Order: sequence, then C-alpha cells, then structure tokens
Amino acid sequence: MDSLVYYCPQPRSIFLQELIQLSHKPTDQGFSTASIHAGYEPDEYYGSINVPIYASTTFAQNGPNELRRGYEYTRVGNPTITVLEQTVAALEGAEYGRAFSSGMAATDILFRILLKPGDHIILGNDAYGGTFRLIDTVFVAWGVEYTVVDTSNVDEVKAAIRDNTKLIWVETPTNPALAITDIEAVAKAAEGTDAKLVVDNTFASPYLQQPLKLGAYAVLHSTTKYIGGHSDVVGGLVVTNDQQLDEELLFMQGSIGPIPSVFDAYLTGRGVKTLAVRMDRHCDNAEKIAEFLDSRPEVSTVLYPGLESHPGHEVAKRQMKRFGGMISVRFAGGEEAAKKFCTSTKLICLAESLGGVESLLEHPATMTHQSAAGSQLEVPRDLVRISIGIEDIEDLLADVEQALDQLPQ
Ligand SMILES: Cc1ncc(COP(=O)(O)O)c(C=O)c1O
Repeated sequence: MDSLVYYCPQPRSIFLQELIQLSHKPTDQGFSTASIHAGYEPDEYYGSINVPIYASTTFAQNGPNELRRGYEYTRVGNPTITVLEQTVAALEGAEYGRAFSSGMAATDILFRILLKPGDHIILGNDAYGGTFRLIDTVFVAWGVEYTVVDTSNVDEVKAAIRDNTKLIWVETPTNPALAITDIEAVAKAAEGTDAKLVVDNTFASPYLQQPLKLGAYAVLHSTTKYIGGHSDVVGGLVVTNDQQLDEELLFMQGSIGPIPSVFDAYLTGRGVKTLAVRMDRHCDNAEKIAEFLDSRPEVSTVLYPGLESHPGHEVAKRQMKRFGGMISVRFAGGEEAAKKFCTSTKLICLAESLGGVESLLEHPATMTHQSAAGSQLEVPRDLVRISIGIEDIEDLLADVEQALDQLPQ
C-alpha cells in the first residue's frame, strides 16, 4: 500500500498564510448570536444578509499571484466555505475550523496528519462503525496499530498509552451505546505523552459540549448530523486551537481536495443558525421518550445519559449542557423484538443517520455498524438507536407506544 504513504509537509505558500489570517477570528458572542452572525457580516456592495454562494472555481487576481483577500482557487479556499468554518469554530470556542466533504473525509485527513506508519491509536470500544472501518482497514494496511479500550474508564486509557501512541480518539456520547467519557480526565492522562486527544463531538454538538475547553486537542464533527440538522447535506469539520494543525488541515484541503461544495457549505451554514433552538427541543423530547421507554416491560435497558441510572450520568451532567437527542434501547425480546420495533413505528422512520429535525431509528448491528461485527466494537443485536427529532412530543410518544404494543409481551 505504498501509494497510501504520504506525509504532510509544512505548508509554505503565501496564499495559505493569507487564508489563515482570514480564518483566525475568535468571537465572544453568545452561542445563538454566534451561530447566526459569527464569520459573516452583510457584504459591503449589496448588504446580503446571508453569505453569498460563491459558485466560482477561481478568483480574479490583481497581478500574477496577487490575490484579492487570499482567494485563488476553490479547492484551496472559498469565501462561502470560510464562513461556515468560522461559524463552527466560534461555536466550539476554537480559533480555527476547516470544512470537509463528509465527516469521514475529515477523519481521514486528521489521521493522515496525526499518524504515520508505526504509530499507534487508542480507540473507544463503542464508536461510529465507519471510523472503526477506516482504522481497521485503510490505516492498519498503512502500518498503524490500534488498541480498543473502554474510554469511559480513564485507567484503561492510561494503561493503553505507549511510546508510539499519537492519537486518542474519543466519541462522547458514543454511537450507538451513548457511553460517556470524561474528556478532562482523558486530556490529563495524555499530558506529558505524545498522544493527542481528538473528540468526535457529533452526537453532542457544540451547543451541548465544547471539548477544546476541557483539554481536547481537536474536535471532529460530522456536520451531516446536528450542525446541518435537516438531513439534506453531508459534511465534516475539524476545529482546533493549534495553528500548526490548522495549517496542515488547510494544506490537505488544497492538496487533496476533500472540501464541501459551496452549495453544501451554504446549506450547512443555514442549518447551524438554528442549532441552539433545535438542540433544546431534541433534548426536551428525548428526555420524555427515554423516561417512557424506561417504564415499559418490553425494554430491558434504556441507554440515555440523562437517566440517573446511566453509568455516565454524573460526568455528562458536568461536561454537557443537556443530554442530547439520541437514545438507544435494548429489547427484552432480543433481536427479533428490536427488528420488529424498527418496522412498527409509523412516524419515526427506519433510516440511517441522525441529528435531523425528523425522528429516525435504526438497527446498528445490521445497518450503520455492520463493519464492527466480530470486533471489540460489535453492537448488541437487541439494540435500536433512535434519533429523536423535534416533532410534537405527543405524536412521538404515541408512535413509540403503538410500536411497543405490537411486540410480544
Ligand atoms: C459519530 C460519527 N462520527 C462520524 C461520522 C461520519 O460522518 P459522515 O457520515 O458525515 O461521513 C458519523 C456518521 O454517522 C458519526 O455518527
């Protein structure tokens, strides 16, 4: 797999430096204000309230290599994409943000920057199946080693750190078991080692949790989920306070090209403006549905960090604003009951993905996490993951109730 061996040289060119300046704009606005305004002011010519979609592959130059405001060619930078990057960076309390064509593209680029053959990564024993697949196939073939631990147990993380450990990858809450990791404790465990802590913050969104403030080195988002929020656009984003990492991310955007289209960047930026109000409603609905599910005999376990019975409840209370819109449920009737439930809801649609305004459910063992079968990340077959949307709670509860009623007692 020699073709996969590429190291990231330091970016050098002037245009990169100019773009870095443009993107370096922290804000002290409140969360909702920043989600609507950070990164963009009405343009000076027409006063457009929304960021224009700069559908332009290239930008006129004043003279050879004399760029206007840093933009040269859209693969290496586009104003519509910059605004999205600045907005999400502001929401995470980060200095820098870089957008990618998907969450997986962003993950891949981060791995390429932070790892080289012979390095070691620590991964949680519950994580998005695609992240595991990328490590277990592409990066193992590239010569990277990995250890799977329960990252909610910081002693396990500490014990797994080796001299060649360069990356600790933490999802919290995890997909799909909703396990919680103490970000601050893991960041402390990594101190004094070469291991960088990266948090996949997709499930929480920056409204509920800001891992950089808890000591993480970088944060990854699948913006396909809560940030976009409407199940109509795929994207990824990485934020950090480390200027060198940001330069390398920018270099990779320009050198490899896994950037979002400008239309997608616009749509994602439109979605993020309502993140706070959507998240509060997701949380309101999820709290009620988790309680209802917990009261039902068909259900053996409700995995929701907002329930006091959840092993990560106290940590979640400390590091999250609220507990999120994702619930996983294990059924007393096993796999058969889980699958029956998946096909019995009428309003909640059986589909992969999450974080949109509409409620979705899925059976991870046979859908999103199929690639984890037989591994330490294998998902129990009696588990159903529900992404609680922002519909009326009465309708959601009625749908869950009628679906449960169809299961054998
Ligand atoms: C937690 C998490 N991280 C990353 C990803 C990958 O994101 P994308 O589908 O945008 O490539 C997903 C996708 O489901 C996810 O759930």
